[in-house]
Amino acid sequence: TTQWIKAIAHADVPEEDVIAVQAGGREIALYGVEGQVYATDNLCTHGNARLCDGFLTGHEIECPLHQGRFDVRDGRALCSPLRDNVASYPVRIEDGMVFVAL
Ligand code: FES
Repeated sequence: TTQWIKAIAHADVPEEDVIAVQAGGREIALYGVEGQVYATDNLCTHGNARLCDGFLTGHEIECPLHQGRFDVRDGRALCSPLRDNVASYPVRIEDGMVFVAL
């Protein structure tokens, strides 16, 4: 069953950047893009790298280790060496707080 987990204040999500939060016992990366917030797992699907240490350009997060890129809107792997998409999660903003559906 889907649970909405309160993650962070909306104001604390950086615009055009990424931040890691703990939610529901896992580490989630939150991305601020054009006033929207997107959420994925923070761990790259290719290796031991955290996407919060990567570089966000538009809707694409680039892994800091081998420069694999994911679309933050749906977790889609966009280029090699990535083979697997990263899990993405629905986001809801309510009363100035960001909730993630896990
Ligand atoms: Fe992310 Fe290799 S660990 S691309």
